[in-house]
Amino acid sequence: MKRVEALWQNRIYRHYYQILQEDEQARVFCCHDMQHFLDVARIAYILSMEQHMGIAKEVIYAAALLHDLGRVKEYDRGIPHAMAGVAIANEILAALPEEAEFTETEKEAIVVAIATHQEETGAKEASLARVLQKADRLSRPCYLCRVRSQCKWPKEKMNTTIVE
Ligand SMILES: [Fe+2]
Ligand SMILES: [Fe+2]
Repeated sequence: MKRVEALWQNRIYRHYYQILQEDEQARVFCCHDMQHFLDVARIAYILSMEQHMGIAKEVIYAAALLHDLGRVKEYDRGIPHAMAGVAIANEILAALPEEAEFTETEKEAIVVAIATHQEETGAKEASLARVLQKADRLSRPCYLCRVRSQCKWPKEKMNTTIVE
């Protein structure tokens, strides 16, 4: 996973990641840290394997590592994080060293997945965007959450039981 490691080591990635961790230090709701990104990556990879989608593991992990960085601009300037995340992802993906570059097609799929990761389309369409969105939701154990009654997630989105 050389390209994912390069993404994680990237100076711009670390910059946004650090700010996001500082922004969420006192957050009572689910946080957006490496634990969340890896939960999403692993679940998305499982979903893609179950559906025989043939999406490269590195592409799934890259999308998961990048998908919530836009929260930095949501907290700071009120820009919806999926939208802000697209610009940040483009900036980081363009800054990766040549040997760790994603192809144009892969970058496009990653960016589309970030842009639409909150959209509950209900579509069975097999795409990186849909597995990322589904994995993002499945990653949260709402049934354990002490602040569930104050969470902004709609009731129908919450995982109230252990889901597979
Ligand atoms: Fe998100
Ligand atoms: Fe997320």
